[in-house]
Amino acid sequence: MFANLINWLSRPSSRAVGLILSVGFVAGAIFFIVFHFTMNATNSMSICISCHEMDGVYAEYKESKHYLSKSGVRASCADCHVPHGKTFPDWIDKFLAKLEIGSKDIYHHFIGTYPDKPAFEKARWHLAQNVLENMKKRDSKECRACHSLEAMLLSEQDKSGAKKHKSAMEKGDKTCIDCHTGIAHKMPEEPETATKNEK
Ligand code: HEC
Ligand code: HEC
Ligand code: HEC
Ligand code: HEC
Repeated sequence: MFANLINWLSRPSSRAVGLILSVGFVAGAIFFIVFHFTMNATNSMSICISCHEMDGVYAEYKESKHYLSKSGVRASCADCHVPHGKTFPDWIDKFLAKLEIGSKDIYHHFIGTYPDKPAFEKARWHLAQNVLENMKKRDSKECRACHSLEAMLLSEQDKSGAKKHKSAMEKGDKTCIDCHTGIAHKMPEEPETATKNEK
């Protein structure tokens, strides 16, 4: 079959097709490689910090167990904020999350929606709701890349945690983020009603 293909491609009438196919293949491969590395490079913490250092989320994260811990496993910004996995649907999830961060974050950065820390502070509660809503929709997939209920040694956990985890495993009605907010940053407080704020 391979010989037939070579034979067919070497006919003058098919050479153009062969050329187009090869160029297409090479271009596709180059595109894929550049795309792949861009996807990975944009996950790096230094890029996130370039914008998020001043707004407080970074300082708070550095105080958390996800930054420094006994075991030395660190969860970076993208580990929690960009879902990942090994299957194609996982990859689509990741791509869409990046598209959202890539467009919304950069847009609001450049139009200067949050000129200073107090302005960002005011918006934090709403931003946090966005994050939590997305995580709930994906059944805390971001967390499950590292943690799983099945792998927990319940006997070593606090009684309260062990009980909740056992029931979450059995009933499957609650997801991590339903019970664990404020694990990397302090959970922002719900703002008072707008009318009170404006006075
Ligand atoms: C160019 C500056 C910039 C970069 C780089 C950046 N962000 Fe943002 N980010 C922002 C701004 C501005 C907002 C507020 C967006 C809004 O008001 O909707 C934001 C909002 C967020 C939110 C709030 C949730 C949401 O969905 O609205 C999260 C989470 C977040 N960024 C995480 C990240 C992570 C993780 C990275 C690195 C992979 C990153 N950001 C890189 C500027 C940036
Ligand atoms: C990159 C891997 C990773 C990801 C992603 C991750 N974690 Fe963790 N998490 C850890 C490790 C490692 C520890 C243990 C730190 C220690 O030794 O105490 C931990 C500790 C915790 C703790 C106990 C300590 C504390 O701060 O209260 C909770 C609760 C927790 N994670 C929940 C979550 C949730 C919820 C998510 C998703 C939003 C998440 N984790 C995402 C690795 C991860
Ligand atoms: C129904 C509520 C509930 C759900 C759902 C839940 N947890 Fe917990 N978890 C708790 C409570 C309560 C504790 C104990 C107090 C604490 O550390 O916050 C706890 C403790 C923990 C701890 C610390 C354990 C220790 O003793 O060091 C980790 C890590 C953790 N949870 C991760 C997760 C992850 C990951 C998920 C999702 C797969 C999850 N939890 C789902 C309620 C829950
Ligand atoms: C262990 C998981 C985890 C890590 C690591 C993490 N975040 Fe978050 N982040 C969350 C969760 C969960 C929320 C939702 C609000 C909450 O529970 O505090 C959130 C909320 C946010 C918000 C919305 C505003 C707010 O105050 O809630 C921004 C912006 C943000 N994160 C940026 C970052 C950046 C930048 C990094 C890295 C320096 C980072 N996050 C690391 C889990 C994480």
